[in-house]
Amino acid sequence: MAAARTNRVVWQGKFGVPGDVREAEMPSTNELGDHKVLVKVHAWAINPCDYMLQDRDMGFAYPVILGCDVAGTVEAVTPGSPAAAKFSVGDRVFGYNANNGFQDYVTFDERLLAKVPEGLEFRDPVVLGLTIATSAVFLFGEDYLNLDFPKIGAPKKGKSVLIWGGASAVGSNAIQLVTGAGYDAITTCSKNNFDYVKSLGAVSAFDYKDPDVTEKLAAELDKGECAGVFMAAGLNDGNIAAWKVAAASKQTLKFASSSYITNLDEVPKGVDVKQLSPGQFKPFPDCWFETLPATFGGYLPEALAKGVYKIAPSPLVVNRKGLEGIQEAINLQRAIGEKGQEGVKAAIKHAKGEAAEDEVKPVKLIVERA
Ligand SMILES: NC(=O)c1ccc[n+]([C@@H]2O[C@H](COP(=O)([O-])OP(=O)(O)OC[C@H]3O[C@@H](n4cnc5c(N)ncnc54)[C@H](OP(=O)(O)O)[C@@H]3O)[C@@H](O)[C@H]2O)c1
Repeated sequence: MAAARTNRVVWQGKFGVPGDVREAEMPSTNELGDHKVLVKVHAWAINPCDYMLQDRDMGFAYPVILGCDVAGTVEAVTPGSPAAAKFSVGDRVFGYNANNGFQDYVTFDERLLAKVPEGLEFRDPVVLGLTIATSAVFLFGEDYLNLDFPKIGAPKKGKSVLIWGGASAVGSNAIQLVTGAGYDAITTCSKNNFDYVKSLGAVSAFDYKDPDVTEKLAAELDKGECAGVFMAAGLNDGNIAAWKVAAASKQTLKFASSSYITNLDEVPKGVDVKQLSPGQFKPFPDCWFETLPATFGGYLPEALAKGVYKIAPSPLVVNRKGLEGIQEAINLQRAIGEKGQEGVKAAIKHAKGEAAEDEVKPVKLIVERA
């Protein structure tokens, strides 16, 4: 069982202020039960939601601990439990939590945890958690597109899926997940990311800034059967652009979005929107248990080990200060949200001490333990 007596956390006492590092009680190893695993964290990934949740009043009961994606080593697990059948003390793992991740020691549900394959560092798979959790719910959840799960060696289905915004972190993983399930991923991104999305398995890429993108994409989807449209970047602009394509297609296409659609009355006729109303939401983590065991734990470690799944976006270690470096990384992430490519270049300069190239590829900001 765990030897450490104290934990430390990035404490968010209210919104609109930076988090501060404080000592906190160590999670009790006697209360792990059947499914919880205690992990000592070695690397944290930063997501756009970390600065958004820090900046805005989301109605949380404060204080909260932000952070979703961590990787580290198993510190404790209940002997003889289902969790112990999968994980042992010392195993290198990566996991997903909806918040609560910016701590030195975090407890995870074993169903949202996976082993780090040989040859990868903590900084690599830590980029994957939230993006896979988001993609998996909307692509494979029975309330959404309800696609078949990815499997090693899945045969080609001869059906396409449109991933709108394939260069986002969510889109980069959505492309790979549908490709792993045997679908043809068709996607949109900026021209300079065409090679990037194709390297992840997209069969074709379209520039979402092209004024004719709606007609071009609808024609592409109508060359065969399309199994659905997933909006993976662009917030409301992305929703509107993506459902225009669905409406222009001759098929009645299922449509799911990573950004909750509040303007449902604007969706054109003939688009089959798959979105639960607030009253129907499945509580967290029930919605993840439906899709993550077959994707995160059940597919990913083997797919990574066999090289059929890539770490995307690329990890960019911005500091090795542990929890003391989290706020610095959140600030860099906020600048990316506000300035796009210029923000990415600033993060690269900050991390590497030298100017980035003119055109930069998508990155995920990482903080490592000191
Ligand atoms: N529901 C959830 O649980 C959940 C969780 C996480 C994220 N999300 C949502 O998922 C989406 C993606 O998040 P993320 O963290 O993956 O974003 P991200 O990595 O920050 O995505 C940035 C990229 O999105 C692309 N993009 C921006 N606007 C676009 C548009 N109008 N059309 C197509 N592509 C566009 C750009 O690609 P180019 O460089 O190629 O232009 C940009 O580089 C967001 O809408 C976010 O709110 C939802």
